[in-house]
Amino acid sequence: MNDMKEKILVTGGTGYIGSHTVVELQNAGYEVVIIDNLSNSSRKVLDGIKNITGIMPAFVEGDCTDLKTLSTLFENHKGIKGIINFAASKAVGESVEKPLLYYRNNLVTLINLLELMPQYDVKGIVFSSSCTVYGEPDVNPIDETAPIKVATSPYGNTKQICEEIITDFIASGANIKSILLRYFNPIGAHPSAEIGELPNGIPNNLVPYITQTAAGIRKELTVFGNDYNTPDGTCIRDFIDVVDLARAHVVAMKRMLDNSDSDALEVFNLGTGNGLSVLQLIEAFEKASGVKVPYRIGERRAGDIEQIWANPKKANEILGWKAVVPIEETMSNAWKWQCRCAGN
Ligand code: WQD
Repeated sequence: MNDMKEKILVTGGTGYIGSHTVVELQNAGYEVVIIDNLSNSSRKVLDGIKNITGIMPAFVEGDCTDLKTLSTLFENHKGIKGIINFAASKAVGESVEKPLLYYRNNLVTLINLLELMPQYDVKGIVFSSSCTVYGEPDVNPIDETAPIKVATSPYGNTKQICEEIITDFIASGANIKSILLRYFNPIGAHPSAEIGELPNGIPNNLVPYITQTAAGIRKELTVFGNDYNTPDGTCIRDFIDVVDLARAHVVAMKRMLDNSDSDALEVFNLGTGNGLSVLQLIEAFEKASGVKVPYRIGERRAGDIEQIWANPKKANEILGWKAVVPIEETMSNAWKWQCRCAGN
């Protein structure tokens, strides 16, 4: 066991990426306080975290859009030094139906946190951004200097606006640091199968759809288009293992808190640097699980980007972080988690 390090607030800490990050933070010796409104997660996730790390994190059930809830949290948990902000709504389609919900949840949460940071002497905030800010890239792999394109959904727009809010706040002289992490496509689950992505209705994302189809919960997977300008005609993404992604947050937090020379605002792409097509991912799943995934080719999905993958060089060099989990292992973990969910 490491020496106990600083206290970190993880908003949305019982969610998919949040829970994996709490595990890595605790394994690295940080003390974690979670706030989550459980809108898309469950209290049971806390047991999963405890089973992996041996530590039950402090948990506040509450909504980050309520300033009072947050200030009470900071009063009750003195000495929080850093925040990792996962608390946000994240379904692209839903955001088109309910834009105000997305703007309220995602923007108000961030504004509340930023407002309280100087008051409670919180030094740094890691913000979950997305490769969606790049839109359809002009070139791949894409690095952090690429232009930000007009957002194609309210969800994507909240990521862009939140990046701007943080940028403006720091430019105003606020005495805080921030690291914006632009995630590519996070997939997989903890190898222990204690935590993973919790299914909520019919999945929108590819990997939960694959694993649910393999488990017989869905009849077949629809591959959205095979007439794209790519080698096999299907879209290409940079699929990154959720544990690799979680580890990057720990490194980013350590950099903000321990490195007095680092810039107040930094941005990093978090991807593997490898693009995989939808068909290649299905193949990787079948190889890892030994289970065939029935699929058919369907129409293109509106708004999909044809191909995007990361140039993660900046994160590799400056953060000293690199995605290392092989895709077969990621898919095998996703399958282990699916089987465990079904058995619950
Ligand atoms: C990947 C590929 C689909 C489902 C979205 C958000 C992004 C980020 C992650 C998160 C695409 C294809 C999918 C299916 C398919 N946000 N597909 N059949 O669209 O790259 O990214 O989620 O919180 O901001 O935009 O991910 O997993 O939905 O799709 O063929 O049933 O799989 O067309 O090419 P996407 P995805």
